Amino acid sequence: MRFDQSQGKEDDISPPSIVKSLRAHFIGQNILYYPSISSTMSVAKEVAKAGAAEGTIVIAEEQTAGRGRLGRRWLSPKGSSILLSIILRPDIERLAQLGMVASVAVVRSIEKTSNLKPAIKWPNDILIDSKKVSGILIENLIEGGKVNVTIVGIGMNVKLDPSLFPDISSQATSLHIESARKISRREILLQLLEEFEQLYQELPQGEPIYEAWLGYMETLGKFIRVKWGDKIEQGYVESINPDGSLTLRRSDGSLLTLVAGEVTLTVDTGRIP
Ligand code: BTN
Repeated sequence: MRFDQSQGKEDDISPPSIVKSLRAHFIGQNILYYPSISSTMSVAKEVAKAGAAEGTIVIAEEQTAGRGRLGRRWLSPKGSSILLSIILRPDIERLAQLGMVASVAVVRSIEKTSNLKPAIKWPNDILIDSKKVSGILIENLIEGGKVNVTIVGIGMNVKLDPSLFPDISSQATSLHIESARKISRREILLQLLEEFEQLYQELPQGEPIYEAWLGYMETLGKFIRVKWGDKIEQGYVESINPDGSLTLRRSDGSLLTLVAGEVTLTVDTGRIP
């Protein structure tokens, strides 16, 4: 497969190209666009602290210090990905559901713009054919028991060629690799903003985001290994819960509930419960 990193119209995610077709009414009304920055998370946090409106998005063609969960790096050669941070100021009770909103929005945006069928690996990795195509990072500033700001970061491999990165090449993929048809970075970003806005705005009405998230979850019922601090735990995934946690049944029958953000998870394939 050839990886054409040239920028056609369908790849143009600069504000003039996005604004004219934006279907979301609140997310993306204010767009900060950078050809290259350290991380959209850092810039979003700075502008949010300076008072940027909820719904402001920061997008970049390239990050020189993109970050993932648990202190990992997020790799993205220029023009290969969607690199997005969304500034939100939700009620504190909604925080546990934001990862669900983001991952369901990513899955639906891929489904609606391609022939692909993504799944979610707990807590919020988006996989196609068991390989990671998108990841979500949420960072909160909480003051006096209230959310000052939440930044939802989404990285999506659209044209990334994982073979360029030996560290991730066996676990990562991109939409271009998986899809029979060409995926437009612009179209998928527009769809993602629309899906995200709809799901986020439905949260206070108690819409069943948990059920939607669970419906795409491929981790339930699997045998997994988790790295939890210095410990390795393994067992059968008995439940994935409305607060976003995961309950593991160990081989001695005991239960362990894990919260996202603390663990690295490996799914053991080929074992029978
Ligand atoms: C993960 O799966 O570990 C989360 C990856 C999140 C990556 C995105 S890319 C846009 C935003 N800016 C960052 O530095 N990270 C997030």
